[in-house]
Amino acid sequence: MIQGLDPKKIPAHVAIIMDGNGRWAKARHLPRIMGHREGMKSVRAVVEAARKVGVKVLTLYAFSKENWQRPKEEVSFLMKLLSEYLQKEVDELHEKDVQIRAIGEIELLPRQVLELLDKAIKKTKNNQGLILNLALSYGGRAEIARAARLIAEACLKGDLKPQEIDEELFGRFLYTADLPDPDLLIRTSGEKRISNFLLYQCAYTEFYFTPTLWPDFREKEFIEALKDYQARERRFGKISEQVHE
Ligand code: FPP
Repeated sequence: MIQGLDPKKIPAHVAIIMDGNGRWAKARHLPRIMGHREGMKSVRAVVEAARKVGVKVLTLYAFSKENWQRPKEEVSFLMKLLSEYLQKEVDELHEKDVQIRAIGEIELLPRQVLELLDKAIKKTKNNQGLILNLALSYGGRAEIARAARLIAEACLKGDLKPQEIDEELFGRFLYTADLPDPDLLIRTSGEKRISNFLLYQCAYTEFYFTPTLWPDFREKEFIEALKDYQARERRFGKISEQVHE
C-alpha cells in the first residue's frame, strides 16, 4: 500500500491540464514566466510520483495549439523552458526507465526544441517504465480532423474500405494510437473545462478538478487526486451490479 493507495486500482493513464501558472505568479507580484518556471518543478515532482506509484502513462498538456496566440515573449519563454527540461532531465529520466513521447503538431515547434525532443524520444524509446507523453502544440479537434484526413487518404489509395471504419480503427489514426485511454484527467486552478484536450480519448475518463494552482500541485496533491479516483465507481454505461459481477 503506497500512501493509502490501493495498488490494484492505480489508473494506467493519467492526463493533466497544468493550469494556473500565471495566477500563481500574479498573486506574488511576479512576472507570469516565473509561474511557468515554478510549474516546471511540479512537472518534476508529479512525474516522479506517477512513476513511484506505478502509473503507466502520464500525459501532460504542456503547450496547446491555442497557446501559440499568447504574447511572443511568453511563447519564447515556454519553448526555452521546454528545451531546458529536455536538456537537463532526459539523462535522469532515461536512468529511471522513463519513455518520452510527444503528441501534437510538433513540427511547428522551433527547430532547436524539435531536435532535443527527437533526441529524447529516440534515446528513451526502448524504456519500459513510465511513458511520459508530452502534448505539445496539441489540439483535440485538430487531432480528430487529422485522423479523418489520414483515413480518407488511405481509402482513396485503396488501403482501407469505408465500411471498415469503426471506433477502434479511428483510434488507431490518433496520436495516442497505442496508448490506453486516460482513466483520470486532472485539471488544476479551479477551471472546469476540457480546453480541447484528448477529446476522443476522454469518453469514459474520470475528471478531477482542484482549485490548487499548478505550481502548488506536487506529490501530496497528486496522491490526493489518485485517492479521489480510487473512491469512484466506473460503470462504462453499465449498472452498478454488472460492474461488481
Ligand atoms: C497554464 O497556466 C500553463 C501553461 C500554458 C504551460 C505549462 C507549462 C509548464 C508547466 C512548464 C513546462 C512544461 C514542461 C513539460 C517542461 P496559465 O499560464 O494558463 O495560467 P493562468 O491561467 O493562471 O494564466
